[in-house]
Amino acid sequence: MSAFAAMVKQMKALVLSGGAGTRLRPITHTSAKQLVPVANKAVLFYGLESIAAAGITEVGVVVGDTAEEIREAVGDGSKFGLEITYIPQERPLGLAHAVLIARDYLGDDDFVMYLGDNFIVGGITDLVEEFTRTRPDAQILLTRVSDPRAFGVAELDPSGQVIGLEEKPERPKSDLALVGVYLFTPVIHEAVRAIRPSWRGELEITHAIQHLIDARADVRSTVIKGYWKDTGNVGDMLEVNRTVLEGLDRRIDGEVDAGSETIGRVVVEAGARIVNSRIVGPAVIGSGTEVRDSYVGPFTSIAEHCRITDSEVEFSIVLRDSSIDGVGRIENSLIGRHVRVTTAPSVPSAHRLVLGDHSKVQIHP
Ligand code: G1P
Repeated sequence: MSAFAAMVKQMKALVLSGGAGTRLRPITHTSAKQLVPVANKAVLFYGLESIAAAGITEVGVVVGDTAEEIREAVGDGSKFGLEITYIPQERPLGLAHAVLIARDYLGDDDFVMYLGDNFIVGGITDLVEEFTRTRPDAQILLTRVSDPRAFGVAELDPSGQVIGLEEKPERPKSDLALVGVYLFTPVIHEAVRAIRPSWRGELEITHAIQHLIDARADVRSTVIKGYWKDTGNVGDMLEVNRTVLEGLDRRIDGEVDAGSETIGRVVVEAGARIVNSRIVGPAVIGSGTEVRDSYVGPFTSIAEHCRITDSEVEFSIVLRDSSIDGVGRIENSLIGRHVRVTTAPSVPSAHRLVLGDHSKVQIHP
């Protein structure tokens, strides 16, 4: 191993996989937001793969109420080439609180903190290498966004030095949002101990980094040009799904009958069946799923063991074990697990709904 690779190997990662996921309700009533699939793979898995690709092997995963589900999906990390240690956080008390409770695990190692619901195209390998080579006290990632009020926002001086950070400001001083990947040396531990909870009752990592800036620490920033999304809401989720599907390679491992057509970048997993249907890519159909007498349009991910019959689905994500039967066209939708979407009897002419708390339905009159 080169000396450089050895340095990266010594770095740890802290992956945050707690939080309530309020903006993704009702999906997150029963499932962790980090496990919602994009192109049929959990958002969190893309992050773990990027960490492994950067040469880091030791990963602390901070978990909350959905700990059991995250553990079941991720296991000991060996399938990613990682050694995972779970760090329970009793309540979502903030990103800096996660660092606080991971103190013993992190020891005196440098680490990359990665928010498990963030999606970054292009990985973090170059960043980790740059950080290891230049080793500032902390390094943050920024990206330009149209509405910075939903994020942490950085103010830079003309030379590009970070001079101030604000969490979800009403009047943002720039359009540069903090991306959910941060690189830290152990000086951050002192900073997370020094700050107080914000108005939302959380220990904000943004405040801890501001504390470093105030103490004249070397805090650098990189403005990423590549694609980034916080998959906190349904619109962003569908958008990330679209982006990932754009890069799909066609692969038909399942069964497609003579009456069906698959056009362009379509993945039909082994064990899936397409009967008398038309699939227009980019789209992915999970194993054990049957699409019959239906149309699946671009930017759609149908997970495992679903049934789509006499229907059209486009620009949507359907999670596993769900069925859509005879309902015409569905677009722009996120459908959870074990969901049944069917037609109503012709009389009385009424919608019949059994919807969980915080569901959202838009009905065509
Ligand atoms: C957190 C950070 C924020 C950052 C965002 C990125 O926000 O506090 O500074 O811009 O992640 O996803 P939260 O998801 O806790 O609202």
